[in-house]
Amino acid sequence: MCGIIGYTGKDAAKDIMLDTLELLEYRGYDSAGIAVCEGEKSQIQVYKCAGRVKDLRNLCEKEEIEGTCGIGHTRWATHGGVSSENAHPHKYGKVTLIHNGIIENYKDLIGKYGLLDQLHSQTDSEVAAAVLSHFYKGDPYEAIRKAVLKLKGTFALGILFEDIPGTIFAIRNVSPIVVTRTDNGMMLASDAAVLGQYSEEYFVLPEFHILELKEEGATLYDLSGETAEPRWLVLDWDTSRSGKDGYPFYMEKEIMEQPEVIRETLQPRIYEGVPYFTQDEIPDHLLRDCERICVVACGTAMHAGLVGKALIHSLVRIHMDVELASEFMYSDIVVDEKTLVIAISQSGETIDTLEALKYAKKNGARTMAIVNVRGASIARESEYVIYTNAGPEIAVASTKAYTTQLAVLYLLAARMAYVRGVFDKERTAAFTRELMRVPEVMKQVLDRREEIHDIARGILDAADVFMIGRGLDYCILLEGSLKLKEISYIHSEAYASGELKHGTIALITEDTPVIAVVTQDKVQSKEFSNIKEVQSRGAEVVLFMKETYTLDKAASFRGVFKLPVMEDEFMVMPASAALQLLAYYVSLDKGLDVDKPRNLAKVVTVE
Ligand code: G6P
Repeated sequence: MCGIIGYTGKDAAKDIMLDTLELLEYRGYDSAGIAVCEGEKSQIQVYKCAGRVKDLRNLCEKEEIEGTCGIGHTRWATHGGVSSENAHPHKYGKVTLIHNGIIENYKDLIGKYGLLDQLHSQTDSEVAAAVLSHFYKGDPYEAIRKAVLKLKGTFALGILFEDIPGTIFAIRNVSPIVVTRTDNGMMLASDAAVLGQYSEEYFVLPEFHILELKEEGATLYDLSGETAEPRWLVLDWDTSRSGKDGYPFYMEKEIMEQPEVIRETLQPRIYEGVPYFTQDEIPDHLLRDCERICVVACGTAMHAGLVGKALIHSLVRIHMDVELASEFMYSDIVVDEKTLVIAISQSGETIDTLEALKYAKKNGARTMAIVNVRGASIARESEYVIYTNAGPEIAVASTKAYTTQLAVLYLLAARMAYVRGVFDKERTAAFTRELMRVPEVMKQVLDRREEIHDIARGILDAADVFMIGRGLDYCILLEGSLKLKEISYIHSEAYASGELKHGTIALITEDTPVIAVVTQDKVQSKEFSNIKEVQSRGAEVVLFMKETYTLDKAASFRGVFKLPVMEDEFMVMPASAALQLLAYYVSLDKGLDVDKPRNLAKVVTVE
């Protein structure tokens, strides 16, 4: 992962880089650094430290940094711990470099080029700088060409050579680099989202092309030295304008935005009362003719896929799998031209998902992406793309991206059922009407958030939590449990409640709160029985249930939240919002950094 930035032009590079690095922190925030080339003096100064970009800003404020050309980096540690030595940029000889990705053969390179006692950090990235320096005899192209042929793995490199002032070089394999021109110069970055405040167009550096970036423009060369033309794209995505709107954390703001963004995702795709995907240019035959669907995704996006699978199975009766993108390529999964592979990704940059999508394409599958960030790599790589209209999501824990992914999956399920003749127009319209109620029903849950805050207070001190439910309830608990883990650091496990008794119930004690979700008519009586099983072992249960269900008079719960009623398939939406709020308030009341939990990054660009 890691965020990278480069600027060369007339303005102060330091300010531009620090501002942009702050926006790039969702790619990693354990250390940060910049290197600035001091114009004609051609000296490169490196400033870096462990910690956040604000710490780097403090460090830089004490210095006089005047250059107008520089590169910057915010890190998510892979090789080498969190320290200022391991922070980027890395300087080796005349080369100063920032890196996103992993150099897999760094150990071989250390041996081959006798670097063992020469390095100052434990990173694979410094090894890349050293190899570049080894080949640098005054010709940057030759050095870059020779060096990258020695590197195995994924990389996006931004490079300064001490004796070529004012020029940034870059090259990449898999990990993205995008380039834009500003009023006063040129910029590169690891993703376009942060460039929106500077320009309205950008291009993606093609893989294994050398970029030469000067104040007056960008030049591209392939590895045989031929020049290449950049393909300029429209830049209509700007994270810099997204404020917290008075909320203490982005996560709360993003949870509260859900009714609106779900509506914005649904509305343009409903025509005459039924879903249609004309604006996304998705032909009906794609949905009608596929014999199998396979979702590839990671984290929260994968959980959205699980809900989609349950829905599409029951509505369309077609075979559907959900694969962890990181396992997909190594599991000998069979895909062919009758398989529709759907990549789901908020960022559109998750490398595992991107690689899985490429693999599926190579093996003949039809591909579709459900992506939030416009123009992202996964969207570009996929044959078809449906954008969720969630807007920029800044908090590391995904909320509105998840529910808008669900909204798209509901639309897809309904359209599929319709074009395959499983639903007639009337039934499709009835389904769509209920779907359009989601924003309003979700708002009712959000308006009662203080009730959930009260429930959250009851689990603040728990070391372990279990979450139980069946069917769709289980699917959303997987996501609810991930949310709680990642931002509150409470160990939490979601369990299909019928499975608990086959081993895991051994862990239930009176100190283990259990969170149960009961919203599905066809399994509710079984879910209530499973709740009794854990209560009999002393567990205190927090219950989220459909408000029409009745509880035994004698039953006692640590908290009960009654969810407004929708048809069963749609209960996922209000219940998800409730679970998001639960995790949020636990984290908030524990005094944690809700938006930037430890060890995580929002965009994961390493395999
Ligand atoms: C990271 C984030 C998660 C996210 C996952 C997949 O791990 O912290 O919140 O669900 O990546 O991200 P994507 O952008 O592909 O949806």
